[in-house]
Amino acid sequence: MRLPAFLNWKLIAIFVVGGFAGIAFTLILIEFDHYTSSEEFCTSCHSMELVANPYRESKHYFPTSGVRASCGDCHVSEGVISATIDHVMGTKDLISQIMHPEYDNPIVSLLHTPEAAFEAREWFRETGSATCLRCHVKEAIKGTRADTLAIHQENTEGKSCIDCHINLVHRQVPGKKVFKRDAWNQMVEEEYGLEAGMAEKIHKGEVSPPDVN
Ligand code: HEC
Ligand code: HEC
Ligand code: HEC
Ligand code: HEC
Repeated sequence: MRLPAFLNWKLIAIFVVGGFAGIAFTLILIEFDHYTSSEEFCTSCHSMELVANPYRESKHYFPTSGVRASCGDCHVSEGVISATIDHVMGTKDLISQIMHPEYDNPIVSLLHTPEAAFEAREWFRETGSATCLRCHVKEAIKGTRADTLAIHQENTEGKSCIDCHINLVHRQVPGKKVFKRDAWNQMVEEEYGLEAGMAEKIHKGEVSPPDVN
């Protein structure tokens, strides 16, 4: 076979080997994304009580249909490239985890939950709740009430699922605009039997939290 002048077998060999290496790399990336989207992986850090327990009681965990949404289904974008970007962005979680070993303490974690929830909601807003639309089709949200279908067709212009549906599967956190830090801290103090004013000090890192693990 005659090759065009600019090509020679050596170059072709490089392309072929390079191509296989590329495929292998992509497959590894897919496997990586798959594992790092699993509940097992996420809950290796995220406190079971705070994030996972409410999730396991939600309709997304035990729906009538048996179609279960995993952590990654909601929190990790579709497609290898986007998923990988999410995971790379997620390494800031890893860094926070290393920098703040106290996050393992449920009190610290609960004090920090509102900010984490606001940040997560912001991500959903920025992505147009794309991960929700992986499973839900706006035109098909018939619902159990007479006007649910109409709401989703008429009132959702310029809105994202997260604008109306917060507190889906985790511990309830008020909307950012109505959130009151004092009330949250007081709730934490009552829940863990702390003295008044302790929550603020723990949150600011002035006092270490009691060991409740
Ligand atoms: C290495 C430990 C670790 C792993 C594994 C981990 N996270 Fe995180 N994550 C953290 C830490 C630490 C934070 C920051 C906590 C904070 O700010 O309160 C965080 C914050 C978050 C937030 C809220 C803030 C934001 O950036 O949106 C979400 C949502 C989240 N993680 C989801 C996940 C999901 C889903 C997985 C599995 C795909 C996962 N995490 C795996 C440690 C981890
Ligand atoms: C993996 C698929 C999947 C993903 C991703 C998903 N859902 Fe769902 N969702 C379901 C299923 C299945 C049900 C339960 C249907 C049933 O039991 O009738 C459900 C139920 C709901 C309900 C009604 C029940 C409730 O808990 O209030 C709302 C609202 C909802 N989803 C919104 C969302 C939003 C918002 C997102 C994105 C943050 C999302 N869903 C992501 C599959 C999914
Ligand atoms: C303008 C606000 C609004 C937006 C935006 C919105 N919803 Fe809803 N959604 C509602 C209301 C209100 C209900 C009815 C709640 C009820 O009856 O308890 C509802 C109900 C639902 C239900 C449950 C239906 C049932 O009764 O079983 C699902 C699922 C759902 N929404 C998914 C979504 C998804 C996915 C998106 C993003 C594409 C979305 N919604 C966007 C307001 C909204
Ligand atoms: C049905 C979609 C859905 C699933 C499944 C889901 N999340 Fe979330 N997650 C959300 C939404 C929406 C928020 C934004 C906060 C809110 O309104 O609840 C959030 C917030 C968070 C936060 C911020 C802190 C907080 O409590 O709000 C963390 C951390 C988190 N998710 C981790 C996880 C982990 C780990 C899993 C699996 C065990 C998981 N999520 C499963 C939709 C989901």
